[in-house]
Amino acid sequence: MAIETVKIFDTTLRDGEQAPGASMSIQEKLEVAHQLERLKVDVIEAGFPVSSPAQFDAVKRICSELTGPTIAGLARANSKDIDAASEALKDANRSRIHTFIATSPVHMEYKLRKKPAEVLEMAVKAVEYAKKCADEVEFSPEDACRTELPFLFEILEAVIEAGATILNIPDTVGYIVPHEYASIISGIRENVKGIDKAVISTHCHNDLGLATANSLAGVLSGARQVECTINGIGERAGNSAMEEIVMAINTRPDCFENIATNIEKREISRASRLVSNMTGFAIAPNKAIVGANAFAHESGIHVDGVLKNRETYEIMTPETIGLSGSRMVLGRHSGRHGFVDRCGQLGYNLSEDEILMAYERFLSIADKKKEVFDEDIVAIINDEVRHV
Ligand code: KIV
Ligand code: ZN
Repeated sequence: MAIETVKIFDTTLRDGEQAPGASMSIQEKLEVAHQLERLKVDVIEAGFPVSSPAQFDAVKRICSELTGPTIAGLARANSKDIDAASEALKDANRSRIHTFIATSPVHMEYKLRKKPAEVLEMAVKAVEYAKKCADEVEFSPEDACRTELPFLFEILEAVIEAGATILNIPDTVGYIVPHEYASIISGIRENVKGIDKAVISTHCHNDLGLATANSLAGVLSGARQVECTINGIGERAGNSAMEEIVMAINTRPDCFENIATNIEKREISRASRLVSNMTGFAIAPNKAIVGANAFAHESGIHVDGVLKNRETYEIMTPETIGLSGSRMVLGRHSGRHGFVDRCGQLGYNLSEDEILMAYERFLSIADKKKEVFDEDIVAIINDEVRHV
């Protein structure tokens, strides 16, 4: 059976950068963009060109330096935004205008102060106009997941006819749960005329901690593009995290049968560290895939298991994402086996008496410190056990 590709649309430089405090200089954005190219993302959303001169310049520079991915620029559904995006994207090998307008009752009434018919007309006009300004057009009905379904289907059908070939379904406020998102995507596939001419895309926010689960539910229902960011950075609680999407698909081929991404997984760890450094957003130690503890083991039972066969407590290898190996942390939960094993790795073959003495001393240090480092062990053995 042929493999179907789920395209990765990285929006670290647009939605990710919209996180309060995450802004990057043009130089920093370029560094991230080059790393995204090494990761082999399919599309980079490089910014929102009309929003500031720096945003415009960043998109322009990225287009002139990168040759691999399609470069997208965001634009509201009006000609001024689309003109700015088109100008910024001029040098891209392949350009995409991503135009959007809100379609939920609350957004249309209070934010846009427009009737659904006016919104639909603006969407169609924007797509028709954008079609003349870039290689391809993506359309997003903002707040799609709180939009009335008949109107969602109607506007999607109209923008396909106007020339949009990528239909993004944003859960703008992170409100949906996986089975509902799956059913919206299936509903679109079943009810929108001409849908087979377009790719359905997911765009999930993490307000309820469900962004990755929702995106994957979308994929299982037929979405073939996922919008996401490195480390899940983004507005409020963030966007779905690219590393989680990619590794879930890769680790569970039984669930994601015949589905793959184009991502160069060995670049994931480096990308994560780079984005953290460029934005100043620390990565939580327990962050899935890229947190410092994602491949760390301390408890004696776990360390013993991993040393015997890593599959006991690891569902993927750290090498897959570009790390050199798992991290065995020595601490109060390590147990004697883990301690003796680390002594061996450090070149100490201790006698039973030496182990007894050293382990006792190790435990008293481990009770005071969160982690016992190799230097501590060397000091215990040289200074207190062997009196070197
Ligand atoms: O979350 C959202 O609705 C967006 C759109 C601009 C796609 O980021
Ligand atoms: Zn968003």
